[in-house]
Amino acid sequence: MKRTGIFFLLVVVQLSLKAQPADFEFNPRKYICYRSNEKLKIDGNLNETAWQKAPFTSYFVDIEGEKKTKPLHKTRAKMLWDDSCLYIAAVLDEPHLWATITRDESVIYYDNDFEIFIDPDGDTHFYYEFEINALGTKWDLLLSRPYRDGAYVINAWQIRNIQAEVTLAGSLNNPTDLDTNWTIEVAMPWSVLRECTPTKRRPRVGEQWRINFSRVQWQHQIENGQYTKKINPNTGKSYPEYNWVWSPQGVIDMHRPETWGFVQFSGHIAGKAESALIPDPDEKIKWKLRKIYYKQRQYHKKHGKYASKLKQLKAKEIKANNSGFSPKMRTTQSLYEITMPSADKKYIWHIDQSGRTWKTTR
Ligand SMILES: *[C@@H]1O[C@H](CO)[C@@H](O)[C@H](O)[C@H]1NC(C)=O
Ligand SMILES: *[C@@H]1O[C@H](CO)[C@@H](O)[C@H](O)[C@H]1NC(C)=O
Ligand SMILES: *[C@@H]1O[C@H](CO)[C@@H](O)[C@H](O)[C@H]1NC(C)=O
Ligand SMILES: *[C@@H]1O[C@H](CO)[C@@H](O)[C@H](O)[C@H]1NC(C)=O
Repeated sequence: MKRTGIFFLLVVVQLSLKAQPADFEFNPRKYICYRSNEKLKIDGNLNETAWQKAPFTSYFVDIEGEKKTKPLHKTRAKMLWDDSCLYIAAVLDEPHLWATITRDESVIYYDNDFEIFIDPDGDTHFYYEFEINALGTKWDLLLSRPYRDGAYVINAWQIRNIQAEVTLAGSLNNPTDLDTNWTIEVAMPWSVLRECTPTKRRPRVGEQWRINFSRVQWQHQIENGQYTKKINPNTGKSYPEYNWVWSPQGVIDMHRPETWGFVQFSGHIAGKAESALIPDPDEKIKWKLRKIYYKQRQYHKKHGKYASKLKQLKAKEIKANNSGFSPKMRTTQSLYEITMPSADKKYIWHIDQSGRTWKTTR
């Protein structure tokens, strides 16, 4: 889900001002990405042993969270890696295989699609997006930051040497029968993905990247023997799309890298040995900073400027707990920066009005 054009820009601005519901719990999905020791043929068939041994993610849920309606069709993904690529596969159950867009670099989510989001360093800036439909038509783009923070959308960017193929269990664009599923297999070279990491290298064993997946699904009707988008008789327009995601965001907006899943890269070959996922205690501290950042956005919306004192924000994260963990804020006329010590107190975590998080040594 990304938006181009003025109409979509308006939608995004509107959506991204919405806060997560008060009961939104910070608990992104987690996944261990095992290594592949065989050459994966990117053909949309997941028949290699490494794929068979790689675990599936949990089934996707509605973007707004598990309390919303269960998706109509099941979706799951898998990941693998080796020294040259990150591999992503997904299986989308689908009784009506339907795709129309044939030109790469088009806005693919006007069709039913599968989408991949990757923020290597988890700072919420400079993240990648990739979309593909059942015809195998692709769109890759780079976002300098989320739309809410004033994104530059770098559409001319390419994942050079990407391989992405789909296989269809069923017949495409044929409403007279029922289909079963479609499978996506993608290889993204580290030589490209590494570029938006601070270290400019592929991940090392044990490191975690922020990744999310989304499936866009339109309601359809059959007209003159063809699938078309179902029209809402009250508005004369098509119904809004469903968004089914791996890790729920709480709101209809994929562009919140802070709620994407944690993918930890394992040194073990898929199926040979298990790795444990080790949560980073600093992620809770980053989330506290993020909540104060949300409060600052709300304050700015109401008052036309940022609060200059934390107590104006009335955030419970602001309360000191007498162990040196209370946040501090510095402001200028148009900028602010909020800091908190890391869990081991060796570093300082920062967030600023652009939403980026980063750390410095203390
Ligand atoms: C996987 O299936 C494809 C298509 O049937 C076939 O060409 C390929 O050889 C198979 N690969 C393996 C490793 O079985
Ligand atoms: C996709 O559908 C085919 C054909 O019915 C079936 O053989 C296959 O197991 C399905 N794939 C998955 C992963 O469910
Ligand atoms: C994935 O993105 C969706 C939509 O923004 C969000 O609801 C969900 O929390 C994210 N989850 C994970 C694990 O990435
Ligand atoms: C204070 O907050 C920090 C960071 O969340 C936490 O690690 C620490 O245990 C808290 N201390 C007390 C006394 O609650």
